[in-house]
Amino acid sequence: MLLLGIETSCDETAVALLEEAGSQPRVLAEEVASQTNVHELYGGVVPELASREHLRSLPILVDQVLHKAAVSTSDLGAVAVTQGPGLLGCLLVGINFAKGFTLANQIPLVGVNHIEAHLLSPRLACAQLEFPFLALVVSGGHTELHLVKEVGRYELLARTHDDAAGEAFDKSAHLLGFEYPGGPRLAAAADEFRLAGGSSRFKLPKVMQGSEGFSFSGLKTAIALMVKRATSADSAVRAELAHTVQEAIVDTLIGKVLEAKKRSGVTRVAVSGGVSANRRLRERLAQVVGGDVYFPDFKHCMDNAVMIAALGLERFRKCGVSSVEICARSRWPIESMEPLA
Ligand code: KG4
Ligand code: ZN
Repeated sequence: MLLLGIETSCDETAVALLEEAGSQPRVLAEEVASQTNVHELYGGVVPELASREHLRSLPILVDQVLHKAAVSTSDLGAVAVTQGPGLLGCLLVGINFAKGFTLANQIPLVGVNHIEAHLLSPRLACAQLEFPFLALVVSGGHTELHLVKEVGRYELLARTHDDAAGEAFDKSAHLLGFEYPGGPRLAAAADEFRLAGGSSRFKLPKVMQGSEGFSFSGLKTAIALMVKRATSADSAVRAELAHTVQEAIVDTLIGKVLEAKKRSGVTRVAVSGGVSANRRLRERLAQVVGGDVYFPDFKHCMDNAVMIAALGLERFRKCGVSSVEICARSRWPIESMEPLA
């Protein structure tokens, strides 16, 4: 069976075509249209502009993906679309397009939880990842740690009280003067500093250790003070500051993972979401967790439609869904998901 996945929850329009093939689905084609150039002028995502961009790009991407795979709409067995969480206007564009498309072509439609799709995305890269595992989801809007018992059965272990890890990277990057999108730029400067053998003179406090959940807002204040105190703003000092920030964010995430590992006795750890592309986080986790750590492919860390299509395929096979019930959900905690029957 062929399934088309659609993702429009934030600032990336993405479409992917998957073929069911044994235990692992096969990606036949995928496209992502990033909106970075639209939002960089404003230093962050402007929801109304993001919705309009999705409206413009989505039909083009669907045509491109079908054309690339030489597939016509009549070959599709189902469509999966991100139902939430995300920006309401953006979700509505994807859902309404998907409803029209599936109604016109008489194809079933499946609604998918974006965070659940991130959380399960390391399984696409590592077929040997077995349940149960600990899942750290670190994106621009979410930072949470779950115990994953099976698809649809998640026990929340920690969630951020304020900013998400990606947000912490982005806000720190802004304070340090990196242009939007700041997170990956800050990380690149920090990596360059570290790999050149640099050690930072700057110090940040250890935040929220021993408490429930994650918190990055205290760190943000400390970073703002640290930047203010730094006497120079040249690129060498900026890289040194970036290194200090990256180490502090990575330390916070690792501390929680180790604590959860100890408490639960579960050794497998899967990391997903935009921040899972961070090389320092990957390196440190591999050091402290050992061989039992799993990540998505780099191109599937950020928002993409392959993860949406893959989870859609799984849910469609086990549950089947009617398109009438699919409405946009700006908030949708994954501990409220139903296990697959
Ligand atoms: O998962 P994602 O594409 O979108 C959301 O669902 O939020 O994550 C985007 C986030 C942004 O905050 C971005 O700065 C961060 O992931 N990010 C990174 C890196 N690449 C992306 N943060 C740190 N290091 C990176 N290499
Ligand atoms: Zn995401």
